[in-house]
Order: sequence, then structure tokens, then C-alpha cells
Amino acid sequence: MTVSEQLTGLDLAEQAPSEPGAEGSAAVGETTDAEDAARSLAASARDHLWMHFTRMSSYEQAEVPVITRGEGAYIYDSRGRRYLDGLSGLFVVQAGHGRRELADAAARQASELAFFPLWSYAHPEAVRLAERLADLAPGDLNRVFYTTGGGEAVESAWKLAKQYFKLTGRPYKHKVISRAVAYHGTPHGALSITGIPDAKKYFEPLVPGAHKVPNTNFYRASEHGDDLVAFGRWAADQIEQAILMEGAETVAAVFLEPVQNSGGCFPPPPGYFQRVREICDAYDVLLVSDEVICAFGRLGTTFACDKFGYVPDIITCAKGLTSGYSPIGAMIASERLMEPFLQGTTYFPHGYTFGGHPVSSAVAMANLDIFDREGLNENVLSNEAAFRATLEKLMDLPIVGDVRGDGYFYGIELVKDKATKETFDDDESERLLRGFLSRALFDNGLYCRADDRGDPVVQLAPPLICGQEHFDEIEQILRVTLAEAWARL
Ligand SMILES: Cc1ncc(COP(=O)(O)O)c(C=O)c1O
Repeated sequence: MTVSEQLTGLDLAEQAPSEPGAEGSAAVGETTDAEDAARSLAASARDHLWMHFTRMSSYEQAEVPVITRGEGAYIYDSRGRRYLDGLSGLFVVQAGHGRRELADAAARQASELAFFPLWSYAHPEAVRLAERLADLAPGDLNRVFYTTGGGEAVESAWKLAKQYFKLTGRPYKHKVISRAVAYHGTPHGALSITGIPDAKKYFEPLVPGAHKVPNTNFYRASEHGDDLVAFGRWAADQIEQAILMEGAETVAAVFLEPVQNSGGCFPPPPGYFQRVREICDAYDVLLVSDEVICAFGRLGTTFACDKFGYVPDIITCAKGLTSGYSPIGAMIASERLMEPFLQGTTYFPHGYTFGGHPVSSAVAMANLDIFDREGLNENVLSNEAAFRATLEKLMDLPIVGDVRGDGYFYGIELVKDKATKETFDDDESERLLRGFLSRALFDNGLYCRADDRGDPVVQLAPPLICGQEHFDEIEQILRVTLAEAWARL
């Protein structure tokens, strides 16, 4: 497979309505100004906008879908068609679309102080947000280093780990361990930590010292497939094996998502993170909880490590911190990691012009206010069982092999044969996911993600304001569309 084939899970080119304009408001044979504007915007996008992780050639056949506004759990395209946002944009829009108070917070801050860097100076909202994040984070993770997004947070965490060990007399500790198929971002360091070979091959050589261990895909467990706890123990022990193989004196950190996104939502087996914590402590290896997706309510807790009962040394986060109303990311580190940087002339020679941007910091504060006032975490916790149960109804379809996830974060694995778990080959996956499913789901009113970075899955992560009526709508659109996909196979 090409890189584009591996990574165009969100390839909207494949999700464009098959007959542009067919759903529009114009009568047949009549062209409205709005229709003209929609067509011209889509054409301009095709000619000038280089879309991310996107097979641009798709737009020779299909119109670029242009999303113009959002309201609550729904988004609208340039022709006014409504879609349920089943992915919260890109695991981002936790509080839902169209929140006036977040827009107002941004406007207020931009009028007051639009920009100032955090390079030897502070500004009030970045300070307040850092204190609030430190309060919310577990243990003594009290030190907040801002970035503009998740990949930069991961990059920062690896650099911090390397420098920390150099400053504390263990200069050979520089390697990192992460899991197969996991996605941790696109900067060279974060990409090295990423476990998707096809995402990396064009950019080799990458940063040396990034080693991979198996993930927690229990559905396809190669060991202990009948015993989740034993499987979890085995999977955690692979981290110990990797540390020993590399030499503990050379390993700095382990990067793990609480629930691994790529591959289709792999939750940790019971006891997995406790065992990983034990291993990290035994070999003095830092545990980095990459919560770029899982933090801020995606699983019903502010930080996902709390849901699974472990305290990492570093949390990396981004996306949902502002519900996407302005970009920001953060690396939140323990006091121990800051300690050597408090001495003499030592400093962390690393930063980003826009890290902790005043507008984004103010928006994040307003977003966390919404979390508190509306109980978004509580909403997820009280509805997560219903979300699971609604999605599990789809297990009666022959194409649905597995439904897995946690909170408001689910993957539905598609299979060719339910009994044997046989998956689709590359051609079938191409026809199924890109040739039909992504577009059909979108045409049927559901924006979500059909992804084959591991085995083919449909991924769902609705805004945290969603309830049963949205779950039902998701289930019904999936039911109709997956049944049709099966019939076409
Ligand atoms: C777990 C994880 N880490 C890092 C990243 C990279 O974040 P960004 O795209 O903000 O750089 C992502 C993006 O989806 C992610 O899911």
C-alpha cells in the first residue's frame, strides 16, 4: 500500500457526495448563486488547498467537500446539508460546535493581548491555565510546557526525557519504546515514535533509537487470546523485554496512549498500565501518557490515566483542551523532571513561537469552564454504557467483527468472515473503505472515519454533549451503510 492508502482514513475526497449538487437546494436545471459559490469554493480548494493526509487525485472525480459551519453535534456543508459529526472534527470538538462563549473568549483575549511569547515572559491566561492543568493532572505533574499541537507535545516529551537523563548523570538513556500501529504525530521525533511503517517510509532515516512493542489488540491477540488479563500482562511484559534487549541504561521513555487510536481503539486490558508502571519504575524509564486524543473527557475523565488508575511521568495533550476553537497543546511533566532545570544556567533549549498562545489559553480556560458547568465528563460516564450497547447492536451484521473502545471513543472492526476473523486484502479494503464506505457514510449523513492503518475499522468519537438520540442516529446510518457495503462485496 502507498502512504496515502494507509493514511487517508480521513480522506474527505472519498467522502464527497457522488453527484455534486445532487443534494443541493437548487431545482433541476436551475443554478442559484449559492450553488455557484459552493462549486467555485470546491474548485478553488481542489486547485490551491493541499489537504493533509489526502490523496489529491481523488478530486479529479469528486468535489472537495467544504464544511461551512457547525451547531452542537452537527456540521453543515456549503450546500447546507447536515451531518452528524461522529468524530468531533478530529477527536477535538468536545463541547460541540457553535459555542458562542468560546468565540467570545477568543475575541476578548485578542482585543486585550493578541500575542506574546512565553520565551522568558508570561501572560495571565497561560499562567492560569498552567495552574489549572496542574491541579487537574494526577500526582505531581505540575509543570506545563505549551506547544501548538499534539505532535509537538510528543516531540517535546522525547527531548525533555533525553535532556533530563543527560543532566542527571545517565547520558546514554535516549531511546524510546512505543507500540505497533500507534500514531504519535508527524515531526521527525514523533514520527519515529509512531508505529505505522507506511507513514514513515518516505522520511527515513528517522531519529534512531525508537523501538516498537506489540499493542493491546485483544481481538487479534497472538498470545492468551482467551484471557484478557494474561494477555495484558504479556503485552506489558513485552515492554520489559524491549528494555532489556536494548539495555536499560539506554532507554529513556515509553510512549503509550491510554486507548490506542490507530488500529481501531485498543483499550488497555485490566492491570496493563499497573504492570507498565512497575516496569518503568524498575528500570528508571519515564512513562509518557500520550493523551492527545484521550484527555479532556473523551473517556469521561479530564486525564485518561485517571480512568485506568496510573500516574505517568509526562502527559502529552492537545486537541480537546480548547474543543478546537483555537489550537494549543501541552506537555505536563512531573516535579522530578523539572528539578535539574531549576539549577544555575541550565535550561530546556526548546520552544514554539505560538506555544501557549494567549487566545488559545483563554479559550482553553473557557472550555474547561464549560466542562465544569455542564458536567461533560459526567455526561460521558453516565452514557458510555449506552453508547457501547447501541454500537454493539451492529454485531448482528455479518461484516462487523468487533466493537471496542471506551467512553465516547469506539472502533468497529470490519471483517470478511466473522467466524474466522478473516480480514480484507488490500484491494478489498481499497474498494470497501475508499471506494464505497467513507463516501456512503458521509452521503448518508454521518461524518466519521473509515481507516485501515491496521485492519479496516470505522472510528467514532462524537462530541461529549451527545446522548442516546445521537447514538441511535449513528447506529442507524452505520447499519444501512454497512449492510450495503456487505452486499457489494
Ligand atoms: C495520540 C496522538 N499523539 C499525537 C498526535 C499528533 O497531534 P497533532 O496532529 O496535533 O500534531 C495525534 C493526532 O491525532 C494523536 O492521536
